[in-house]
Amino acid sequence: MSQPLRLDRLPRTVELERDGDGRACFAYVDQRLLPGGLSVARTHDWRVVVRAIETLAVRGAPAIGVAGAAAVAVWACNEGASEAASHGCAEQGSRFWELLESIAERIAGARPTAVNLAWGVERVATLAREVLREGALPSEVAASLFSQVKRMEVEDEAANRAIGLHGAALLPEGARILTHCNAGSLATVFYGTALGVVYAAAERGGIERVYADETRPVGQGARLSVWELSRAGVPTTLICDGMAARLMATGQVDAVIVGADRIAANGDVANKIGTYGVAVLAAEHNVPFYVAAPTSTIDFSISDGSLIPIEERDPSEVLPCPIEGVNVWNPAFDVTPARYVSRIVTERGVFLPHELAE
Ligand code: MRU
Repeated sequence: MSQPLRLDRLPRTVELERDGDGRACFAYVDQRLLPGGLSVARTHDWRVVVRAIETLAVRGAPAIGVAGAAAVAVWACNEGASEAASHGCAEQGSRFWELLESIAERIAGARPTAVNLAWGVERVATLAREVLREGALPSEVAASLFSQVKRMEVEDEAANRAIGLHGAALLPEGARILTHCNAGSLATVFYGTALGVVYAAAERGGIERVYADETRPVGQGARLSVWELSRAGVPTTLICDGMAARLMATGQVDAVIVGADRIAANGDVANKIGTYGVAVLAAEHNVPFYVAAPTSTIDFSISDGSLIPIEERDPSEVLPCPIEGVNVWNPAFDVTPARYVSRIVTERGVFLPHELAE
């Protein structure tokens, strides 16, 4: 790589803040506007956070995990504590918990496939339950949830940097990488998973080029991956999804690296629609297929990928102007069987798919 890596040019994707008046505020890069403009939106309303997740303003499994937790904290700090306080002292805690449970359910249900969302919400809900049991007031619980989200932000970046180092060790010098969707800094709090591996390798000069699939229908590759890679100074080439076979057949890919939305206990991987096809192509061309994801993406409660719920999104993403008589099927994710996955790279190290459960 000829130019130096410029990670300082990448924004933090999601961040929980406190206003001057002490209210909790969720700041997020509105990814719907990229690559046209980098804009950070702010809200004090948990409902707006949910809407941001549903509309892909905030997307990517690790980012929505932290955003989901932040939505609960925003509710607790800005609404929950005062609403519960309007009840008698003895009932405050139980009323607060009752409300929190139903709001947490609504937030966790915003998108079904990425397990990180439910994981993030569950993490703060569990903390709330614990501190309420110890007799904390709702306002004290709210403060604990705020701190917990700040810890999750730090942990997310640390996990991604660890994934990056483990993954970079797998790559040859001057690697040419193909990636699908955006598993970059924009999909996390900062740094990225699949692109975190690229950044870690690029930091020691080990990346010749990254090819980014467009990633129809929403264009996470075309709009987001190429934006952040080029902004960070990584040589980047955009290809249409259908060009990956030709790219591999002409010997231009040393490794495929993708992220994941949910990994089953047997190593089957749910990721953005189209990933499965790329994995089959990689196997056909003897190109290693690496999945980079934090352990929060592994769902040990699910034995194999057939049990992963697959989100179906609005037909207008595929066909913006409806044509009479034409149906559209728009599953947002597919499942790559474990046999096509060369290695799973987590913050705890590199695993063969079947080693996860061990
Ligand atoms: O629908 P999206 O854009 O949220 O889908 C995102 C992906 O499929 C990513 O590859 C995955 O979440 C990993 S992000 C580190």
